Amino acid sequence: MKICVIGSGGREHALCVALSKSPKCSELFAIPGNAGMAEIATCFPAVKATEIDAVVTLCKENGVDYCVVASDDPLALGLVDTLTESGIASFGPTKAAAYIEASKAFSKGLMKKYAIPTARYETFTEGGDAKAYVRSQNLPIVVKADGLALGKGVAVAQTFEEAEAFIDELTSGAKFGAAGATIVVEEFMSGREATVLAFTDGKTVSLMPTSRDHKRAYDGDEGPNTGGMGAISPVPDLTPELLAEIERTITYPTIDALNKEGRTFRGVIYFELMLTPEGAKVIEYNARFGDPECQTLLPLLKTDLLEIMLAVTERRLADINIEWEPAYSCCVVAASGGYPGDYAKGYEITGIAEAEAKGATIYQAGTARSANGALITSGGRVLTATATASSPQDARDKAYNALKAIHFEGMRYRKDIGL
Ligand code: AMP
Ligand code: GLY
Repeated sequence: MKICVIGSGGREHALCVALSKSPKCSELFAIPGNAGMAEIATCFPAVKATEIDAVVTLCKENGVDYCVVASDDPLALGLVDTLTESGIASFGPTKAAAYIEASKAFSKGLMKKYAIPTARYETFTEGGDAKAYVRSQNLPIVVKADGLALGKGVAVAQTFEEAEAFIDELTSGAKFGAAGATIVVEEFMSGREATVLAFTDGKTVSLMPTSRDHKRAYDGDEGPNTGGMGAISPVPDLTPELLAEIERTITYPTIDALNKEGRTFRGVIYFELMLTPEGAKVIEYNARFGDPECQTLLPLLKTDLLEIMLAVTERRLADINIEWEPAYSCCVVAASGGYPGDYAKGYEITGIAEAEAKGATIYQAGTARSANGALITSGGRVLTATATASSPQDARDKAYNALKAIHFEGMRYRKDIGL
């Protein structure tokens, strides 16, 4: 089969590596892809993942049999629907199902209607009303943009002034556009965060090992939110008993609720959870693999990823036995200096082969080739070192040891992933 992965991050590189190992995969493409993916796939750097018509045309021209749509924007734009209508089978939820990520007001409403545990909330379309409500609540208070905002649409405000300033940012439209037109204000939940990802065909829900992303830019969970600076799997505080409860109160009820709403979900669903004193509650849903969670999970997957994905698309996931290595995994992201703010690009990257020789896998994200063929930086999150081992400590040590071999100007990474 000719397979095409849509996207250009470390997640998509990890997907390409896993898919390329399937005996069923005869040829691999990526749109747009990156320099790492270009080593195993034909890439189309001039086409964006969100250019739906151009993506569909390229897939047709190249005889692609199956497309894997991994990132939020093309899913929210309905790429899977358009590909399917064009006769190209795809992995990922429809636009209607991906709405669970694309609209927080929708997902909160769904949870309320179906009694799925989450923070208490109200939604507003007028900044003044949102501010009046905020003043009637306890601190801290959480304010969110309804739509997709690259992880920047949430403020956990310690003061009313902070919450009001964020509401002003949302309603001004300058930074968030339409994503901030509806505002969600919700109760602050305290606890530790954990992620549960699952493959689902809308009938069967197959949980992956648990994982935990480290979203803040700096050590000790300081600094601004990023796309994610590293991840571990599994998470020690998610016991089998707690997981069983999460399946009963959260994962199955969510899949059922989406079915009842006529939005059957097929793909990877991401449950971002807060482990509160009253039990696990949903912080938010994503309609896809997390990045970097995907990069820490896929090295543990023993079953052929393509076989799993085809079973999801064809709604026969119950027939597949999905096996995971009972090991620990740790991935650490190396970012450009300045990320998640402004950063320079075009710096040469060296040492990837040496890093891999130390037993880690290097997934590339913001990388490109210069005119003379050198590997250079082209994004905020540049690459990730992932390692697996029989103890969490060994997995960490291997990932960090590998990163020491890699160099580029301004390279920065957190030193405390998984501590
Ligand atoms: P989100 O984009 O919804 O995943 O939120 C980003 C981050 O904000 C989460 O990872 C949490 O750390 C924090 N957060 C979001 N909602 C809440 C909440 N209701 N209570 C406490 N923290 C929250
Ligand atoms: N790592 C968080 C996300 O992919 O949304």
